[in-house]
Amino acid sequence: MEFNLILNLAILSLFCGSIISINLSPCAKWNSSGIAVAGNSIYGSSSNELANPTGIFLDKGKKILYIADHNNGRIQVFLLNNSSNKSITLISNLKYPVRIYVDNQETIYIALDTSKRIEKWIKGATQGVQVGQECRGCSALWIDEEKDYVYMSEWIRNRVSKWSNETENTTTVAGQSDRTGATNQFLNGPKGFYFDKKSDTIYVADTGNHRIQKWLKNAEQGITVAGSSSGKRGEDAASLWFPENVFIDDQTNVIYVTDTNNNRIQRWLFNASQAETIIGASGRGNRTDQLNHPTDLAFDDEGNLYVCDSYNNRVQMFQLIDNQLCSKGNNSINE
Ligand SMILES: *[C@@H]1O[C@H](CO)[C@@H](O)[C@H](O)[C@H]1NC(C)=O
Ligand SMILES: *[C@@H]1O[C@H](CO)[C@@H](O)[C@H](O)[C@H]1NC(C)=O
Ligand SMILES: *[C@@H]1O[C@H](CO)[C@@H](O)[C@H](O)[C@H]1NC(C)=O
Ligand SMILES: *[C@@H]1O[C@H](CO)[C@@H](O)[C@H](O)[C@H]1NC(C)=O
Ligand SMILES: *[C@@H]1O[C@H](CO)[C@@H](O)[C@H](O)[C@H]1NC(C)=O
Ligand SMILES: *[C@@H]1O[C@H](CO)[C@@H](O)[C@H](O)[C@H]1NC(C)=O
Ligand SMILES: *[C@@H]1O[C@H](CO)[C@@H](O)[C@H](O)[C@H]1NC(C)=O
Ligand SMILES: *[C@@H]1O[C@H](CO)[C@@H](O)[C@H](O)[C@H]1NC(C)=O
Ligand SMILES: *[C@@H]1O[C@H](CO)[C@@H](O)[C@H](O)[C@H]1NC(C)=O
Repeated sequence: MEFNLILNLAILSLFCGSIISINLSPCAKWNSSGIAVAGNSIYGSSSNELANPTGIFLDKGKKILYIADHNNGRIQVFLLNNSSNKSITLISNLKYPVRIYVDNQETIYIALDTSKRIEKWIKGATQGVQVGQECRGCSALWIDEEKDYVYMSEWIRNRVSKWSNETENTTTVAGQSDRTGATNQFLNGPKGFYFDKKSDTIYVADTGNHRIQKWLKNAEQGITVAGSSSGKRGEDAASLWFPENVFIDDQTNVIYVTDTNNNRIQRWLFNASQAETIIGASGRGNRTDQLNHPTDLAFDDEGNLYVCDSYNNRVQMFQLIDNQLCSKGNNSINE
């Protein structure tokens, strides 16, 4: 697709109430200063505060931001079209919710690390029900659109598995259950992952190995697509340090990583050996251009980037300011 068309679509989407999703250029730029759309940096439990949030889910069309407010044990909802900055508590009294998946505003699935399970909360329910088998060190989840499978990553068991709703069977899709190492057959304390439905491929934040691994369908081993394949941590452009989540733009194969311990968001172009820092280039802190332990990210329909800035007790929005096509040589569309 032509990028001037993409720009037109972007403009159109602003006028049409963001029905159309933007296509992000691999060379897109965001404002390096963010705006707090949830939380005010103070660790607390009032309606405009958060306590080490770890997971976010954006309902793009409706502009609703759902937050796993980890240390408050609750799921908070912020209406992004409401300037009051106040949130509503949707579910409370949870034990350390880590990540969430929201299905059509009706049902919320929550990964509960210490409770070793994924809970499904149907709208209006007073209790969650466990879905899937035990999830030890339950660090992330994904539900496929047909709801046939629940994907979960277990950092304690060093694997990502899928559970079939129909057969109730659990199948490992990345890593080796209960075994760990830094070679390609293994994962080490995996956290977030991105599931690409089109190709049935899973991209895993292999957190303890400081890298992002891509596992094709039925693969016996992964392929390193970001970070050092040997599992070495680092602070340079070729490395990651305890990355906790990954997002793939499946139009361009660009990889976005929350490089958690480096307090930055990294962009890896397709097949690149080094990344660019798109947010957090000036190191850890609580200024608008800084992050402190980012754990999750999401994009809205206009291409704005949302970052769960965990230790700053806020979710930052970084506005897309330039979506121009890359100059020749670094276009990086999957060729
Ligand atoms: C693409 O190349 C241009 C010019 O060489 C450079 O300014 C830009 O930072 C590059 N972008 C990426 C994403 O590598
Ligand atoms: C970036 O955001 C800051 C703070 O909201 C604003 O003052 C500035 O004008 C923005 N810069 C651009 C290039 O949009
Ligand atoms: C932000 O960081 C500064 C400097 O470290 C600190 O003094 C201040 O208390 C922090 N603000 C909040 C809200 O934590
Ligand atoms: C904000 O979004 C909510 C949910 O989509 C909707 O119910 C509400 O009417 C919207 N409010 C405004 C002021 O647009
Ligand atoms: C914004 O949210 C507040 C608090 O939930 C609510 O009282 C107010 O009516 C909302 N305003 C709009 C315009 O939706
Ligand atoms: C909501 O947050 C924004 C960004 O931090 C701020 O500019 C605005 O004043 C806040 N609004 C209220 C009502 O507190
Ligand atoms: C499993 O399938 C049943 C029947 O289609 C459905 O009601 C239920 O919500 C599904 N479970 C999950 C976890 O989606
Ligand atoms: C469930 O898994 C078991 C053991 O892996 C296998 O023997 C069985 O055929 C599977 N059942 C279905 C319905 O796939
Ligand atoms: C990726 O890069 C490697 C070497 O850096 C090269 O051998 C390989 O062909 C590239 N793959 C694709 C699909 O471009």
